[in-house]
Amino acid sequence: MADVLPPNMLNERPRTPAGLLSNAEKDRLIERGFLGLYRWYTARSQETRNWNPDRSFEWLKLRQDLPPEIVTVIQGFFAVEQYAPDFTSSLVNLVRRSHGRSHFQLRWGSEEEKHADAWENAVLFSGQRSPEWIEEYKERLRSQTWELPFPDAIHNIVYTVFQERATQLNYLNMMKIAQGRSEKPQYAGFSDPVLAKVAQTIAVDEAAHYNFFLEGVRMYLYYYPERTLDAIKNVIGGFSMPASGLVPDWQDFAETVYRAGIYGPRDFQRDVMQVAFRNLGIESRKALEEGIKKTREVPDFEGENHKTTAIFDTFDYGQIEGDVRRLHVKIQDYEKEIGFDRFDPTEFVENPEVPRKEGQAADD
Ligand SMILES: [Fe+2]
Ligand SMILES: [Fe+2]
Repeated sequence: MADVLPPNMLNERPRTPAGLLSNAEKDRLIERGFLGLYRWYTARSQETRNWNPDRSFEWLKLRQDLPPEIVTVIQGFFAVEQYAPDFTSSLVNLVRRSHGRSHFQLRWGSEEEKHADAWENAVLFSGQRSPEWIEEYKERLRSQTWELPFPDAIHNIVYTVFQERATQLNYLNMMKIAQGRSEKPQYAGFSDPVLAKVAQTIAVDEAAHYNFFLEGVRMYLYYYPERTLDAIKNVIGGFSMPASGLVPDWQDFAETVYRAGIYGPRDFQRDVMQVAFRNLGIESRKALEEGIKKTREVPDFEGENHKTTAIFDTFDYGQIEGDVRRLHVKIQDYEKEIGFDRFDPTEFVENPEVPRKEGQAADD
């Protein structure tokens, strides 16, 4: 912001050393980023992903002879997605003070709700489950409530990054089977264009969700590196798919998904964790764990910055700064299109804690 005051004049927080951003200022910057990103996201979602779970697919053309295990997988996808109201209400409540984040969660929830309806249609139109069976299954699922996996906002957003990527991967691999591209011998010669289109359409939404939450975690990582890296370490330490403890036939579903080559522990390592790490400038799980350990070994002397410097060696902060900058350029372009920039533009503010290479200007 062109007229931003020096952070130490913004509020009376004597604990913030001169020249550093106070937590209140960091929170304000992150909030502005989320708000801009949410406005951009909503416009884009309506322009490019405005599909309907009933009308966008030719349901009567879905094969009536789907392999039974494919129906089991689709049923599991439905079971997870139908907790959309629980996911949404818990998350909205958690971030209700943030305009950008809480409004985004409503939009996100409206997209997840479409996923539930589309997968339910797939189960119904497969002809392998009666409407009565589906009704009863739904009642069983809804007798339980999904609760937040972590108590605080930062852990939950980090969890969501990994969860959205894992979900996207599940759907992409289902799409591959339905397109006749599976490497598993049992699916040689099998295809179903309707199922392929459903899986692809939902996977595109999941990719958009992943990106939104990823941009959010990058902002946290940039302004609050220590807290964020810690949250990443905790989340990957015990990752499981949402509602895995609520769906009654989860074990059967997980094994079927694994045998079909759709998702398993190796896929999580290679196609979820490593992908998210690369997008977050983290080399590996080992590098993350060692970096955090090293940070804790360094004594945090009052008024000195040893701790902060060590944490910046744990990830590629140059990459993250570039990503956060690019996010702001994207938001600014959007704001120029609308005219927001004339009244209240979103600006990128550097984190002065980030170590600079010698001779590097503060804002180059
Ligand atoms: Fe979804
Ligand atoms: Fe999603």
